[in-house]
Amino acid sequence: MSRLTRTKQKASNQQDVYDHPFFRSLIRRSHRYLSAGYPIHYTGPSGIGKTTLALHVAKSRNRPVTLINGNRDMSNEDLIGAFKGYNRKKLNDNFVKQVHKVEENVTEDWVEGRLYEAVKNGHTVVYDEFTRSSPDTNNLFLSVIEEKILPLYGAKRKQSHIEVHPHFSIIFTSNPSEYVGVYETQDALLDRMISLPFETIGNETRAEILMQQTSIGKGEAGKIVDFIGNVNALCREGSQTVSLRASLMMADVIMKNDIPVDGENEEFQQLALDVCYFHLKLCSEREEDVESHILNVCKQV
Ligand SMILES: Nc1ncnc2c1ncn2[C@@H]1O[C@H](COP(=O)(O)OP(=O)(O)O)[C@@H](O)[C@H]1O
Ligand SMILES: [Mg+2]
Repeated sequence: MSRLTRTKQKASNQQDVYDHPFFRSLIRRSHRYLSAGYPIHYTGPSGIGKTTLALHVAKSRNRPVTLINGNRDMSNEDLIGAFKGYNRKKLNDNFVKQVHKVEENVTEDWVEGRLYEAVKNGHTVVYDEFTRSSPDTNNLFLSVIEEKILPLYGAKRKQSHIEVHPHFSIIFTSNPSEYVGVYETQDALLDRMISLPFETIGNETRAEILMQQTSIGKGEAGKIVDFIGNVNALCREGSQTVSLRASLMMADVIMKNDIPVDGENEEFQQLALDVCYFHLKLCSEREEDVESHILNVCKQV
């Protein structure tokens, strides 16, 4: 987890992509809901751009940004804080040479957890992949959203809770394919946020991201996006598909090595196999012949 400070905007490619009508509308709605006090939730397959957008929206709220990565091992202590270490003061009084008087005073230091700090100071929190954390941990977020308090369970503090700062807001991200065996807390949380799916991101937007990110030409970007789309069409319904990240890797390697976007070209075929083979094996029903399926899709490029 890290605290993000505002950095100079990159000569922003990303910005141009976000000028696309799909993103412009999504960003406008995101700000609208956050300002009205509702948490928002970007949901969609891996590599589609959820985390990038969440951070972009969070940074443009002009509040400090805290990034929390959901994981099984995250504890309440990480989020709330804990007394850690010892502060020891020792006073050695030997005013009279023969008499030693030692006074020792030991105190523990309170170390603020990430959510504690964010809630207290009104940060914008990006809680990435929240479904990966345990239900106990996510219970804290229910109190923060619902009651606008952060309970200080087990923190050995006199206070039972702290109030949520009025400027505090939170953006969740998650991947629906990881909802298998979701816990009730997750459902209760989902019920309290506005979920904005990324599935509807079109091929034109994907191609635009490739162009902005790798400077690849429009025609070639379109071909790569179509190629990945055709490979994904071979996946089982509802399975994890080959991601936007994979198209970006392809476009990047193509640009850096002058590989022609041509399905008959051997180097292109090899790259296509390297990027897609493993994914397709996992997501398709076709356990065998994955290679020839990819090469067939290449023929359409
Ligand atoms: N708007 C964008 N402009 C340029 N690159 C982007 C944009 N959105 C996502 N990317 C790139 O696509 C890849 C996947 O994005 P990421 O936000 O990590 O996806 P997710 O969180 O959905 O898995 C990253 O390499 C990221 O840099
Ligand atoms: Mg992500």
